Amino acid sequence: MTPHIEAKAGDYAETVLLPGDPLRAKWVAETFLDSPRLVNRVRNCLGYTGTWQGKRVSVQATGMGQPSLGIYVHELITTYGAQTLIRIGTCGSLSEKVKLRDIVIAETASTDSAMNRDVFGTYNFAPAADFGLLRKAADVAEARKLRWHVGGIVSIDAFYHPDSMNVYKVLAAHGVLGVEMETAALYTLAARHGRRALTICAVSDSLLTSDHLEPEERQSSLKEMAELALTVATTG
Ligand code: HPA
Repeated sequence: MTPHIEAKAGDYAETVLLPGDPLRAKWVAETFLDSPRLVNRVRNCLGYTGTWQGKRVSVQATGMGQPSLGIYVHELITTYGAQTLIRIGTCGSLSEKVKLRDIVIAETASTDSAMNRDVFGTYNFAPAADFGLLRKAADVAEARKLRWHVGGIVSIDAFYHPDSMNVYKVLAAHGVLGVEMETAALYTLAARHGRRALTICAVSDSLLTSDHLEPEERQSSLKEMAELALTVATTG
């Protein structure tokens, strides 16, 4: 038990999928896992453990943003022994080549978050994915003929920002593919504790065109993303 998770020692698998949304955690557990068991409902931040193709897997919601994800990932690693952590989320596209419903596999995550500012002094730490998981995800995505991209994303703090387009343009000009709100903290914590982490995102909106998918239109790319993450989680 931790301040935010009521599960007992051993309730989580070593491999944990991390959606932001608790209802997406429920959907992944109930749609894909055999014998899913609810192991956390503190704050309705639902966590489940079951098996997928015979392998034990957990799904734990993280909530939105790096401070929230940081709490769950820290506790999953330090109390429950999580070894492989794969975020499954959505991102906004910053690139013309990244279309709605595409899959973005995040190689690195830039950020405006202050979470690391007092940790590394005058240095900027470079949060990066585990290479083995990244390579596996790219190989599986290619074999399944998904529309996929590997590259940098940015984890922003403020979804609503008075002047974000200017900085998004600069980031896009440096090859950053998409915008979400969690991955820099995930990759930093994995590095700190010697664990493996990866983020796989389905593209839900474009910051260039303001196009977006309605929640019901997201379902097919969320399914592809969940199946990709489960394959990487259990074989990567
Ligand atoms: N901004 C931030 N986070 C997001 C977005 C976005 O446009 N889309 C999905 N997650």
